[in-house]
Amino acid sequence: MNHAAGLPTATAAPPRPLLDVDGVSLEYKTPGRRVRATHRVGFQVHESDRYILLGPSGCGKSTLLKSVAGFIAPTEGVIRLDGNAVREPGPDRIVVFQEFDQLPPWKTVRENVAFPLLASRKFKRREADARALHYLDKVGLSAFADAYPHTLSGGMKQRVAIARALAMQPRILLMDEPFAALDALTRRKMQEELLALWEEVRFTLLFVTHSIEEALLVGNRILLLSPHPGRVRAELNAHQYGMHSAGSPAFQATTQRIHDLLFDLPTPEEPASDRHLATARRAAA
Ligand SMILES: Nc1ncnc2c1ncn2[C@@H]1O[C@H](COP(=O)(O)OP(=O)(O)OP(=O)(O)O)[C@@H](O)[C@H]1O
Ligand SMILES: [Mg+2]
Repeated sequence: MNHAAGLPTATAAPPRPLLDVDGVSLEYKTPGRRVRATHRVGFQVHESDRYILLGPSGCGKSTLLKSVAGFIAPTEGVIRLDGNAVREPGPDRIVVFQEFDQLPPWKTVRENVAFPLLASRKFKRREADARALHYLDKVGLSAFADAYPHTLSGGMKQRVAIARALAMQPRILLMDEPFAALDALTRRKMQEELLALWEEVRFTLLFVTHSIEEALLVGNRILLLSPHPGRVRAELNAHQYGMHSAGSPAFQATTQRIHDLLFDLPTPEEPASDRHLATARRAAA
């Protein structure tokens, strides 16, 4: 109630999520049988979230990401972007993959970043080049604009792939273990750079990893998926963790808690007797 005026205050409607994954089951048809990759998975990503899909190998993370990208249709449920059902790939969802060979080797770095802009027919060559250089600058690669991909390190190739994706200004950037093939030091540096880039551009990110540490460092929300077929195990906040807190006691305690949740071990707050109830509650939530 608005006591001053004696009138009811309008209750603000919750903001509509940018991405709404609603009860999504995904399957592969192989000769002779169907493989269920995810079972009724649901989650919501809001504008400027850094949303993480975390789970063991084979739990359907990549399949979910491909489905959000529009490459695989759900057998059950629906995926909505800005309220519209996703039915096919589109420039509003760009994927960065793990592999270093995402860049056509016959194009220079600048041509690689400019190519999707030109292909979209929304930009003339000069505009596309200028925008490509702008985003290459953001990932610290202006000096390599005229280099060919084979002359770059793995980390530099991933920076080009990120610049190319961001240059398209997608509604949501989809990343599938983009740093998993890098050495530990480069990986940490890339995580830091991604966060710095996010501070500057505030894009919305859906990021797949099976590293608990990476999930806590990169994400502000984390969806935990159970092993094959992937189901929602829990959803956690992670905005309190960042590069500054890596390795702190709180960080380590959360890492352990996530580990226990992923492997269905009782956690300190969740005695064994309550475990099945809690699991059922989470599955129903
Ligand atoms: N093209 C395919 N045909 C048939 N089954 C597939 C195909 N791709 C994936 N699968 C199966 O679907 C399930 C989910 O696979 P997915 O690649 O999404 O897992 P993931 O969580 O990304 O694993 P990882 O962490 O190893 O990348 C697995 O059981 C896998 O064997
Ligand atoms: Mg995968």
